[in-house]
Amino acid sequence: MSVDAKHDPSHGKLKCYLPFLHLTVVETNNVYPCICPSWLKADGVVGNTKEQRLPEIWNGEAYQRIRALFLEGRYGELCREEICPYLRGEQNATPPDDEVLAAVQAGHTVLDYGIKRLQHDVDKGCNLNCTMCREEKIAPDADNVARALRDVADAADMGSLKAVAWSGAGEVLAMAPVVREMQGDRFSAGGIGLAITTNLTFFNEEMWSRLSHNRVRLTVSVDGCSREVYEPIRVGARWDTVLANLRMVAELRRSGRLVSLVWNYTVMRQNVSDVARAIALAEELGLDRILINAQLGSLSRTGGNMFEDLDLDALDALYEQLERADAFAKRFVLVSTTGMRDRRYRTLAYRVEMAEHIDGRRFQMKADTLQLIFLHSHALRVLQQTITDVNTGRTDISEALPPASMAFLRHIADPLRTDWIARWLEALAQGLFGLNTESARATMERERETVTQVAALLERLERRQADPQRLAS
Ligand SMILES: C[S@@+](CC[C@H](N)C(=O)[O-])C[C@H]1O[C@@H](n2cnc3c(N)ncnc32)[C@H](O)[C@@H]1O
Ligand code: SF4
Ligand code: SF4
Repeated sequence: MSVDAKHDPSHGKLKCYLPFLHLTVVETNNVYPCICPSWLKADGVVGNTKEQRLPEIWNGEAYQRIRALFLEGRYGELCREEICPYLRGEQNATPPDDEVLAAVQAGHTVLDYGIKRLQHDVDKGCNLNCTMCREEKIAPDADNVARALRDVADAADMGSLKAVAWSGAGEVLAMAPVVREMQGDRFSAGGIGLAITTNLTFFNEEMWSRLSHNRVRLTVSVDGCSREVYEPIRVGARWDTVLANLRMVAELRRSGRLVSLVWNYTVMRQNVSDVARAIALAEELGLDRILINAQLGSLSRTGGNMFEDLDLDALDALYEQLERADAFAKRFVLVSTTGMRDRRYRTLAYRVEMAEHIDGRRFQMKADTLQLIFLHSHALRVLQQTITDVNTGRTDISEALPPASMAFLRHIADPLRTDWIARWLEALAQGLFGLNTESARATMERERETVTQVAALLERLERRQADPQRLAS
């Protein structure tokens, strides 16, 4: 086993143990050490199951590097500290078992046990066509489904597997081979629990009769609490059916037949108005948790993204819904990805971190030059909005920014980078790539101006850091 020299073995208590026990495979077959890759900052990819098998990835160099960072408490180099509920102290890490604890206490980065918890996105195929998830309906791909089942078998063969989460980039209950696998006894006989994330359209009594011999944790995604709000978002689903299925699974949970039941509510402009109602229904039905999650990215039918566009009016409206539901006092309501607690969304730290996250998507997407320029443009729009709000007093800058955010602002204001981006924009402005020259030219001018303003903000922040007593000028 390799031992990290800087680790103090007497310590052994981590804020998060996931890289020592967990592995996530997303729809691109990229592998991450976290249950939620969007909580990771930059390039958190530790492998890809199209190129490697899971046992090789589990103790590969990338996993080892991340374990070493965690042993040294350097979570912020991988994880978004503004967002992750473990690092924000909103949720405690599940206590690790003795084997994991012993490895952490000994400072091991190569592990002699296998994956304990596997999360697999399987494939994008789904029976619905939700507005924030896809532009059109996508049928399951048989090769992807087969590869996912091979990965699950690989993880089980490593001998330590305790749970499989079918997180699903699509709807696993619409994939017959996956349902057949769960209907068999691989998991129940091996003491392997199952976690299923589902749109609830198929989760009725008949489906339960096929799965009920397993230990099942269920997460249901319902982005609204009325027909008027729910059906235009979850295109293809019927509110009455889903509400009936929600009541049915809540009864399974209350009678102890489900191990847990969690509601995922992805917030976007179109469903802010139902948030308080959803929290009340979750409480009435006795659910374990409701996650009020921020929409990620934007698609043609979402009308942008209230979080990534820093739409303060919509964010304030969401805050009011949460206050109305007394959500901040209720442990079963989780809101961390929305930046709502203590109105973090209004702070400079949150906003700069959002710009950094958008710019950093280039690592997750392995972006080409054009995508990189669009991400950069989006990050600059977030910074421009932030600077406008700072200037009008809507965003407070009294709190010092963490070093990583200062470094990001320096990176944005770097003249070399600005020149490089400007040259590309110039090419766009000359009509290369078939883009509209007028709008490319306007973007170029606007971005130059934003970069100048970022440099001025940076200077102001650096002056304050050098002399914290001095008021910002
Ligand atoms: C992609 S779905 C797959 C599982 C299943 N089909 C479902 O809807 O629960 C997994 C989760 O991602 C959420 N989701 C989809 N698009 C999203 C987006 N743009 N931003 C944040 N969450 C999103 C869904 O609401 C759901 O809770
Ligand atoms: S983002 Fe949070 S949950 Fe994910 S690995 Fe980092 S600390 Fe753990
Ligand atoms: S049901 Fe899930 S996978 Fe299907 S489109 Fe909606 S969010 Fe996406």
